[in-house]
Amino acid sequence: MNIQHVQLRNITKRFPGVLANDRVNFDVRAGEIHALLGENGAGKTTLMKILYGLYQADEGEILINDAPVRIKSPSDAMRQGIGMVHQHFQLVPPFTVTENIALGLRSAREPMLDLDAVGKRLRELASRYGLHVDPHALVWQLAVGQQQRVEILKALYRDAALLILDEPTAVLTPQEVKELFVTLRRLTETGHALIFISHKLHEVMQISDRVTVLRDGRVVGTVATKHTNTKELARMMVGRDVVTSWDKPPVKTDDQILRIEKLSALDDKGLPAVKNLSLDVRAGEIVGIAGVSGNGQRELAETLVGLRRAESGVVSVAGRDLTNHDPADIIAAGVAFIPEERMTMGVIRDFTVQENLILETHAQPPLARKALFDFDKIAAHASQLVREYDVRTPTLDTPVKSLSGGNIQKLILARELSRAPRLLIAAQPTRGVDIGATEYIHKRLIEQRAQGTAILLISEDLDEVLALADRIAVMYEGEIVGVVPPNTPVDQLGLMMAGAKRVSS
Ligand SMILES: Nc1ncnc2c1ncn2[C@@H]1O[C@H](COP(=O)(O)OP(=O)(O)O)[C@@H](O)[C@H]1O
Ligand SMILES: [Mg+2]
Repeated sequence: MNIQHVQLRNITKRFPGVLANDRVNFDVRAGEIHALLGENGAGKTTLMKILYGLYQADEGEILINDAPVRIKSPSDAMRQGIGMVHQHFQLVPPFTVTENIALGLRSAREPMLDLDAVGKRLRELASRYGLHVDPHALVWQLAVGQQQRVEILKALYRDAALLILDEPTAVLTPQEVKELFVTLRRLTETGHALIFISHKLHEVMQISDRVTVLRDGRVVGTVATKHTNTKELARMMVGRDVVTSWDKPPVKTDDQILRIEKLSALDDKGLPAVKNLSLDVRAGEIVGIAGVSGNGQRELAETLVGLRRAESGVVSVAGRDLTNHDPADIIAAGVAFIPEERMTMGVIRDFTVQENLILETHAQPPLARKALFDFDKIAAHASQLVREYDVRTPTLDTPVKSLSGGNIQKLILARELSRAPRLLIAAQPTRGVDIGATEYIHKRLIEQRAQGTAILLISEDLDEVLALADRIAVMYEGEIVGVVPPNTPVDQLGLMMAGAKRVSS
């Protein structure tokens, strides 16, 4: 392993109908972390899969230490000292950590690999880089953050000198991100080259030495991290200025809209997912629920809108008990819902934009009179919403399944907010949505707050919760472990998200 410099030159990659990489130039040196930043679909993963031998470029070349190389497969890449940790891990769950590392290794001398020797070297690597994990543990029993360590160890065991990490923080708690960053720094100190893929500006600012921004398959620019800032990077990603922090004029009200009292609900397997949870949201207030995915947030949202049974407890809206009422009843009571699963629960994929915009409201005047639809009114209403909410669609009759994620989310927002709800439950409203649409959705939520709507914002994106919420409730294993103000240090929030109860202040 001796990698001083890896260069990708004029890389072009086409998929049917998509130019995923367009004459991309990118390089990384030993001892540095080079971040590859871009929105979803910008071409980051494609570029790295080319470097790792999973795809072949249509044009362009790869050089290692100034010599051109052909990388036809991941085993070619590994022979050259290139390792990659994918967005979705590729471990074998019923095997132990050691077995997973040993898998695919070939020993020249022995027919059988010596697992003890593998385990020994594994422990050495683990302690050198701070990648602590039990070599005998079964992979399925490990937390996601630990599985990621196994993936990194696997690459290091194969002598990777260049490590590519594809959105490694997407699945981690803030605490785990911190630990990962310590490891990444140690790796550069020992001469490794690192490529860190992300779409999160704060992380890129924190961990990288250089940043290359991709947009629509093209390099917008490469900058030294210490000479840039999140504002400039956002502008490079999106192509215009982006607002990421909001002024929230205080909205004075004690009008309690949502009241959740000792609510319990089960998950799909019948296990407790929401446990004796109490929380309230006032008019004109955004309460953010922060937490790592899978801690009962989804079940909570579904129970609130009548899509899941409450086993016990009470949900009331504006003083009216709606516990275990059906969704239509809850909607009629003034509750709007932006679901986490927008393609299955938020829209009907094969229906048109116009049809999706009138779901839920079509039975009410002015769109319906007696049993008849007023089609002219419907079309006028739909085209006004499309304009007002900036839904980019060729026509009102386009099926929603052909819109981008951000535009589908704007459509759902348009439909839900046009009903002037008293309570809005927004679950992961900007997940998978690009920065431009995220900014727009945030702006709308802030406006809605100013109009006195009570908003429950459920989000795994801590930056989002910090930017929008008036109060933050941290959820862990089905419970609220604490409710804190939005100026709470991220470290403390991270500890709470990992299950530590709030240290009383
Ligand atoms: N295997 C593939 N087949 C067809 N299109 C693909 C494939 N992989 C990626 N794409 C397309 O190429 C573009 C870039 O995707 P990707 O490299 O995954 O972006 P990023 O990692 O920046 O989100 C997208 O438009 C995506 O839909
Ligand atoms: Mg990707």
